[in-house]
Amino acid sequence: MRIGHITLANRLFAAPMAGVTDRPFRMLCKKLGAGYAVSEMVTSRKDLWNSLKTSRRADHTGEVDPIAVQIAGTDAAMMAEAAAYNIDRGAQIIDINMGCPAKKVCNKWAGSALMQDEPLATQIVEAVVAACAPHGVPVTLKMRTGWCDTQRNAVHLARMAEAAGIAMVTVHGRTREQGYKGAAEYDTIAAVKAAVAIPVVANGDIDSPEKARAVLAATGADAIMIGRAAQGRPWIFAEIAHYLATGEHLAAPATLQAKAWLVEHLQDHYGLYGEFAGVRSARKHIGWAVRALPGGETFRAEMNRIDDCDTQLRAVGDWFDQLADIHHRLPATSAAANDDSLQETA
Ligand SMILES: Cc1cc2nc3c(=O)[nH]c(=O)nc-3n(C[C@H](O)[C@H](O)[C@H](O)COP(=O)(O)O)c2cc1C
Repeated sequence: MRIGHITLANRLFAAPMAGVTDRPFRMLCKKLGAGYAVSEMVTSRKDLWNSLKTSRRADHTGEVDPIAVQIAGTDAAMMAEAAAYNIDRGAQIIDINMGCPAKKVCNKWAGSALMQDEPLATQIVEAVVAACAPHGVPVTLKMRTGWCDTQRNAVHLARMAEAAGIAMVTVHGRTREQGYKGAAEYDTIAAVKAAVAIPVVANGDIDSPEKARAVLAATGADAIMIGRAAQGRPWIFAEIAHYLATGEHLAAPATLQAKAWLVEHLQDHYGLYGEFAGVRSARKHIGWAVRALPGGETFRAEMNRIDDCDTQLRAVGDWFDQLADIHHRLPATSAAANDDSLQETA
């Protein structure tokens, strides 16, 4: 699997998720089998680049190559500048966001709203490709199947993107209008794959090794991208890789192994966000990790009242130690994402 001149470790990708796929989480996913992980979106608004939020998103210290940064915006010149800014900060691949349905982005005609304005989408793609080409940085595009049921223009946009020099397209199998409702459909992704020669990535509702194999078969896609199912279960990439290679299921992780991964993730997380923001933003990751485990909901409620990192880390460690006394391996959990995993915090 290649993006331009860059060869990836495999074809299992972690999806960009604002408020979730920060550097510590991307590094965890890559460690546990993802061949590729895209950053949370970075705004093209220059006035926000010095904000704490954007500077954290543009911090790639220690990240495993390739570093892929997603940019979001509505103005071609600003998007080109944003691409150059992120290349200066280490980006080796630039991804254009045409898939996010969040209002905050769409009110400004960014994200998936761009799919409704093809001339503007084309201008943005051409400007970003032109800004990245001198640096040898490939540009990719993430979109939905279309704006609404009657306007599924992913194939048309993918052809435009290929002609403009885009190196890979990712398609989430829902329209903008759907948000996250209903089920992802894969026929449009298959049609995109059939229409272009660049790599195509299938995304949407992939939450198990069987589903991964079925989506690859149904779409002919070159790679698959997983978002919500990796929340609290980042080893899903290793599970899928093993299943695709052998047809066998990996055993669930040992409980103490899952604890070690979470503890390491939390330490990295506190390092990026500091004490105040760190303890609070870590709660969602802990919640996802324990929600489907025995006693997980009770622990989650208790843990949400803890206000310092040391106590939070100790509580997590103790809770997993107690669980390990009863369950050597993690009990089977539901793969389905809870509703709260749909909260976009971009
Ligand atoms: C919390 C959250 C934040 C997201 N943020 C972004 C984003 O910044 N950029 C983007 O292109 N898509 C974003 N998405 C969409 C995901 O990348 C992905 O397309 C979608 O969740 C479908 O994949 P899944 O069913 O595997 O979760 C976000 C999704 C979630 C749940």
